[in-house]
Amino acid sequence: MSEFERWETRFSGVDYVFGEAPSAFLVAHRDLLPRAGRALAVADGEGRNGVFLAERGLDVVSTDFSPSAQAKARALAARRGVGLDLVRADAHDWDYPPAAFDVVIDIFTQFSTPDLRARKWAGVRRALKPGGLLLLEGYTPDQIAHGTGGPRDPAQLYTRELLEREFAWLASREIRAYETVLSEGAGHSGPSAVIDLIGRA
Ligand SMILES: C[S@@+](CC[C@H](N)C(=O)[O-])C[C@H]1O[C@@H](n2cnc3c(N)ncnc32)[C@H](O)[C@@H]1O
Repeated sequence: MSEFERWETRFSGVDYVFGEAPSAFLVAHRDLLPRAGRALAVADGEGRNGVFLAERGLDVVSTDFSPSAQAKARALAARRGVGLDLVRADAHDWDYPPAAFDVVIDIFTQFSTPDLRARKWAGVRRALKPGGLLLLEGYTPDQIAHGTGGPRDPAQLYTRELLEREFAWLASREIRAYETVLSEGAGHSGPSAVIDLIGRA
């Protein structure tokens, strides 16, 4: 089964695999969000985070390669009464518009091999406006022992060293790795080893 088919199958049920509530990390940093402007939600899946940004008054582009996930994101946005610009795109190959977004979120998008990940993050860099906010969240290699979500290939997981190196271009960055308990649908559930980055271009 291809990666695409795997995600399509995962999203084919009625339940929201990662829940309908936004990431706790995103909610915790909501006060950093501007009151207006454009936001990009990379590989936003079923839309929980994109919808939250739209509810905060941002114009949101929500990308993902899965039509099944985006159908759910569309339904969630409609239920919540907000608009979402859903763009079906591969995160590695999308033509990221230059300096177009005040906010970019890259939350739990650890599907890439290191070379493809570099392409995704080059796109993120390109898309952020100078002074724009980057909120990124993922699992660390310690997550493999928890087995409560995320990929099992260490090359796809994030370390502080990796994020410091790859995001050295940001004007400012704060990175925090910690243990927490996630409750984000069936997909992310239980004790978890996560790492967050809050950056300014
Ligand atoms: C773990 S889910 C997280 C979704 C969302 N960011 C969230 O936090 O709820 C990963 C998402 O990446 C998407 N995805 C996987 N490979 C992708 C690719 N190459 N390009 C775009 N999206 C991809 C999947 O369809 C899925 O929606």
